[in-house]
Amino acid sequence: MLLLGIETSCDDTATAVVRDGVRVLANVSTNQDEFHAKYGGIVPEIASRRHAALLSAAVDDALSRANVGLPELDGIAVTAGPGLIGSLVVGVATAKALAFATGLPLFAVNHLHGHLFAPFLERDEPLPYPFLALLVSGGHSQLVEVTSPTSLRIVGKTRDDAAGEAFDKTARLLDLPFPGGPALDSLARDGDPKAIAFPRHRADPGTLDMSFSGLKTSVRYYLASDEGRRARRADVAASFQAAVVDVLIDRTTRALDARSDHARDAGGYRALVLSGGVAANSALQSAFTALGRSRSIPTFFPERRFCTDNAAMIAAAAEHRGESARADAATLVADPNLAFA
Ligand code: KG4
Ligand code: ZN
Repeated sequence: MLLLGIETSCDDTATAVVRDGVRVLANVSTNQDEFHAKYGGIVPEIASRRHAALLSAAVDDALSRANVGLPELDGIAVTAGPGLIGSLVVGVATAKALAFATGLPLFAVNHLHGHLFAPFLERDEPLPYPFLALLVSGGHSQLVEVTSPTSLRIVGKTRDDAAGEAFDKTARLLDLPFPGGPALDSLARDGDPKAIAFPRHRADPGTLDMSFSGLKTSVRYYLASDEGRRARRADVAASFQAAVVDVLIDRTTRALDARSDHARDAGGYRALVLSGGVAANSALQSAFTALGRSRSIPTFFPERRFCTDNAAMIAAAAEHRGESARADAATLVADPNLAFA
């Protein structure tokens, strides 16, 4: 199918045109960072108003870059949730209006499913089911067993902060500019990851769950201590990042070891997949690749432009999920708490 994707779940106004869930003919993203930076975080009301101002032009832009007209499309895919309600409604209302006006099929996509399929954009090989995905973003951190496009099971998740949220909050403690994750990643490159032994919280050892709020608090207390005031900020950043990566890799390794009966019947997981905004992190990518190598299992992560929120991944998820993503343009409503499966 040739699908138009629309993604407005948070602060990126994103549109894309994707063929067969793989080939990205256009990928447009208007980042709103300049409007939120002075507040040090995303202001939902501002995000919603910016989406309303930008989305029509972003749809036109994607279509013209892809050199396709609305009549050539096979459908319209939109993020229906989870996310900020004021942001989601702009994308959903626009997609419904386009579907009504053109008669094209409408597909409602869970934002997290979009992240799961992002690593396979612009690749030619078939998807390696069953695979284990570590999905780490600003709002979520979870391990997902993907047996088929419509059979997705969360096997572990964060009990408190998402990994990206921990990066953003720690970046603020280090006075880094918004958005904090990428800034902390680059500062950490000049630091020693072993300089400070921050704690590795693993939530309940009997589960595959994780926890990051204690780590963030440790960084805060450390920075307020005499030693912390004298410490190199790059060392603090590198040591914090190493703690996050250790927890994520530990949980992923345990999930591999505890692979479900279903995956075992199919001969074990056929791939390890990293996705979500934090998948752009250099230290996490290296550790994830090393884990795959040590277990002789292929690893996939998205191209950098498909790590953070984008609409190509929404069109891809609609393609892979097919009929199960079909929605009615008369009744679809945005759901800020949309369930995962
Ligand atoms: O997937 P995403 O764009 O939005 C959500 O669905 O949440 O993820 C955004 C998150 C932010 O917390 C951001 O700081 C983090 O991804 N992030 C990074 C990096 N690039 C983005 N975190 C660590 N290192 C990075 N290089
Ligand atoms: Zn996201």
